[in-house]
Amino acid sequence: MKKILVTGALGQIGSELVMHMRNIYGNDNVIATDIRRIDGNPAVESGPFEVLDVLNAKKMAEVAKKHEVDTIVHLAALLSAVAEAKPVLAWEINMGGLFNALEVARELKCSFFTPSSIGAFGPNTPKDNTPQDTIQRPETMYGVTKVSGEVLCDYYFKRFGVDTRGVRFPGLISYATAPGGGTTDYAVDIYYKALEEGKYTSYIAENTYMDMMYMPDALNAIVTLLEADSSKLIHRNAFNITAMSFEPSMLANEIKKHIPNFTMNYDVDPVRQAIANSWPNSIDCSAAKAEWGFNAKYDLENMTQDMLQKLAKKLNIR
Ligand code: SER
Repeated sequence: MKKILVTGALGQIGSELVMHMRNIYGNDNVIATDIRRIDGNPAVESGPFEVLDVLNAKKMAEVAKKHEVDTIVHLAALLSAVAEAKPVLAWEINMGGLFNALEVARELKCSFFTPSSIGAFGPNTPKDNTPQDTIQRPETMYGVTKVSGEVLCDYYFKRFGVDTRGVRFPGLISYATAPGGGTTDYAVDIYYKALEEGKYTSYIAENTYMDMMYMPDALNAIVTLLEADSSKLIHRNAFNITAMSFEPSMLANEIKKHIPNFTMNYDVDPVRQAIANSWPNSIDCSAAKAEWGFNAKYDLENMTQDMLQKLAKKLNIR
């Protein structure tokens, strides 16, 4: 039985991953931690929760020892747009937090998962069908920390035998917890605005393609990779995975099928647009499929249907 410590447990991925893993492994076997406690949050109320700043290495080790964890899922990090606005803080949190978590994993011989991102690619990476192994020279601080994190995780595996695994997530879309300051956030915001106001102003320009994934597929991917047979893994940090690639007007047209009066215009944010321009249009995830059976169920059509239905219920909109 796994005993899993999750950092950043109240963030966009964490708040759903904790519940998903508690369903699989049992409530008491998933230790949720975050820099702040939000009373009433299901991840706080349904099982063990500890306040933990990932920059506090001593406390991280204490919490991991107290709960005798054998797996660490390290999620605490700043997203791309925030990291670009606060690059020094982003380096501190994204690299310092990862280093502390890897050290605890090394000391306690834990398995380890941390997400990388399509942000680990840069402007000279092949844009279409981006290979698993390719040029990675990102030009954002977020990307710098993600590619450094991939290399550091590989180092901990090769040098210390820590069972590190990771994926390069595309933009993640969910109705539960909003992302905080990413470049792909438009693809979440648009659903809220479509339901609340019937219109949306996109900060990403038309024809800017990026990879995306619906949260249930992302949660499945994490658990499937954590459970994968180690001997089958040729790669580790980190696997390309994606479920769909679209640009803003494709998403708007899909929403219009459900909300016919929905309209969208553009007011491009140069900072986030530049980040998006430096990322792939669509990545190749054949290594993840071959090595651990990655598979996504949601495409733009069934994601939009589910997202609008769940969000309407959440927002109390008919
Ligand atoms: N969704 C993330 C971001 O936009 C990409 O990893 O920052």
